[in-house]
Amino acid sequence: MTVRDTVVLDDPVGASLGGRHAPLARRHGRVAVYPSDVATFAALPPDPGAAEWADLARLLGPGALADLFSSPASPPPDWEPVFALDGRQMIWRGDGRTGHPPAGPRAEVAELGAADVAEMLGLVERARPGPFRPRTRELGAYLGIRADGRLVAMAGERLRPPGWTEISAVCTSPEARGRGYAARLVRALVARVVARGERPFLHVAEANTGAIALYERLGFETRAPVTFRGFRTPLAASAP
Ligand SMILES: CC(C)(COP(=O)(O)OP(=O)(O)OC[C@H]1O[C@@H](n2cnc3c(N)ncnc32)[C@H](O)[C@@H]1OP(=O)(O)O)[C@@H](O)C(=O)NCCC(=O)NCCS
Repeated sequence: MTVRDTVVLDDPVGASLGGRHAPLARRHGRVAVYPSDVATFAALPPDPGAAEWADLARLLGPGALADLFSSPASPPPDWEPVFALDGRQMIWRGDGRTGHPPAGPRAEVAELGAADVAEMLGLVERARPGPFRPRTRELGAYLGIRADGRLVAMAGERLRPPGWTEISAVCTSPEARGRGYAARLVRALVARVVARGERPFLHVAEANTGAIALYERLGFETRAPVTFRGFRTPLAASAP
């Protein structure tokens, strides 16, 4: 792997909205966003000025959330900071290792579709893996595990910079943790991504030491620090 292969991971949102997810993109000038029920991520050029911030505000509407983790730029002072959380970007090492498969009965992995969205949102509510919206599943494949007919674990594909697929929404319902479900789902997604000739990557909060340990065991290594930054667009349009 060369540096050139990983450079698209510096702005994974822009690289996805400008490529694989272009059909979903809403654009204004040099700015692009996902529909708000898909994701709240925004793509900006490296040097955004007043015109780009105004375009982004117009795209999102007043009082809307803009998640800028993929851009280091800071919005104008009338954009209210909502959150700032340290995290890291991890990439799959690509040496074929995803740790030892867990012992015990094999849980069945099911593909999740439009009919499963209510259950997926319910699981997200219980397990809190990070942002997940009613149409996020349209960004890629989502896999789940059921126990006694109830969805208790899931993981899926989100950002798609050229050559890469982000694994996201990894979560297990609190009462079903420690049974190897998350490991099984991440392994299944890694296998799919690799079979397409791509490489998996992901983002995780720095405080989430359990998830980081799990990802390391599954063959991921840290590439770069990231800061998840959310801002609210101004309620009133700025004076011209
Ligand atoms: C992180 C999470 C997905 C793990 O789910 P899980 O189904 O319990 O994970 P698994 O049973 O597959 O665990 C796999 C391994 O990681 C270890 N592990 C899991 N959670 C851990 C924790 N909190 N601390 C330390 N190790 C942990 C397990 O001991 C297991 O190790 P083993 O394979 O050597 O036995 C789950 O705790 C969760 O939903 N957390 C909240 C949502 C979240 O933070 N998601 C990640 C977003 S990036």
